[in-house]
Amino acid sequence: MVVPRRFLIYAVSVLIIVWTVGFWILTASSLGKGTVNGDMPTVEERANLLQSKIASVEKAIHEQVAENKRLMNLLRVHNGQVNAPQPPSLTTTKAPIPAQNINPAVPDAADDRVAILVFACNRPKAVQSHIDQILRLRPSAERFPIIVSQDCDHQETTNAIKAYGDKLTFIRQPDQSEIKPPPKLKKFVGYYKIARHYGWALNRTFFDFKYKYAILTEDDLDLAVDFFEYFSATKKLLDTDPTLWCVSAWNDNGKGDKIEDNSELLYRTDFFPGLGWMLTDRLWTELAPIWPSSFWDDWLRLPEQRKDRACIRPEVSRTSMSNNGKVGVSKGLYYDKHLRHIRLNDRFVKFSTMDLSYLVKDRYDSDFVRRVYQWPSITQGELRGGKLNNGDPLPPAVRLTYEDKNTYKVTAKEFGLMDDFRAGVPRTAYRGVVPFMFGRTRVYLAPLASWTNYDPKWS
Ligand SMILES: *[C@@H]1O[C@H](CO)[C@@H](O)[C@H](O)[C@H]1NC(C)=O
Repeated sequence: MVVPRRFLIYAVSVLIIVWTVGFWILTASSLGKGTVNGDMPTVEERANLLQSKIASVEKAIHEQVAENKRLMNLLRVHNGQVNAPQPPSLTTTKAPIPAQNINPAVPDAADDRVAILVFACNRPKAVQSHIDQILRLRPSAERFPIIVSQDCDHQETTNAIKAYGDKLTFIRQPDQSEIKPPPKLKKFVGYYKIARHYGWALNRTFFDFKYKYAILTEDDLDLAVDFFEYFSATKKLLDTDPTLWCVSAWNDNGKGDKIEDNSELLYRTDFFPGLGWMLTDRLWTELAPIWPSSFWDDWLRLPEQRKDRACIRPEVSRTSMSNNGKVGVSKGLYYDKHLRHIRLNDRFVKFSTMDLSYLVKDRYDSDFVRRVYQWPSITQGELRGGKLNNGDPLPPAVRLTYEDKNTYKVTAKEFGLMDDFRAGVPRTAYRGVVPFMFGRTRVYLAPLASWTNYDPKWS
């Protein structure tokens, strides 16, 4: 990182403080003029108030910027993007839906379709291998139409996508204008482009093509054999349960030795996983007008957007990072340390013949709490030693309790789990509980049973 963290934090803080102070002074003075009772705050009181406001804003900014900064190492950037403007005419705008189906008032087969929206940029080999997998694995061309959306001005990639002809709908992000993030955020320009691309392509998919569901993938993902089965079976849950807002293919702690060898196992999670995920037109209608200019996935994870909604995720991932994921300077380390170890499911589970209603919140929550808290809370020593302190053998499942942020982080690290939070939510957590395997023992890294909600200050 070239920009020192302190400097970055400082620059953004100053900007926002100036804005806040200005706003406050304006508000305060206009309030003062209109006030009838003589109960005006003294100058001293105002100064104190102002100071505490500044302190809290500073703190919030500090947290957010530190978070963003850390993300640079974690998130996946498409590199090598070219800023040359492109004539909009290059954009293919073929609508994939026959004209008579476009009217949303007419319910028809289109309602059952799930668009596969693939994001591509400048990796011709990756996008080709990704599209080949989709074509090989999807059970039906009608039910799973493919849209490939390309950002970047990269001719080889364009050619690779065009080679598929009418097997897919090819769209290109027309706005290749240079993005100018605030000077100190220049480093993050890749994230700005990704957010712009996502916003545009999702608008096309839901508002122009009028699909009801879309699965979002990126060209560096490999897909599991039952990728489509998983999403088509879980689709109904998004309609029936308003507390669910996505289905994801990804388990952030899905390394081979951390998971149970149980391809059928699904969870709810409060942590938005991304990396191959499905959403509805309803959700997009809500998000489109407020879509952020960068870091869209962490923006989604903020309480204002998440609104306590959860995603479905599998125990065994239905996507994994292909070797193509290695390409890109900023993601090399993260890829090597973490992403490439996530195990891809290789067993076809017939989810569509299974009753998945146990995942609906009303049923799931009470079951989940009972399932977790029926097991004893033990120490790490007992877990590692393979028996309880009283000499009894370990039960098939146990809890490791955490009561504060640091205990969580240290424990997660010791067991090779992701140890980060977003808005206080640990990766993969549901109600604060992070499940993983230690040898043949199921472990729930869990808060006290009296847990009620996340603390957004945990980071
Ligand atoms: C997408 O559509 C929404 C709602 O119409 C609009 O506010 C937004 O600017 C659009 N975004 C892009 C990138 O076109």
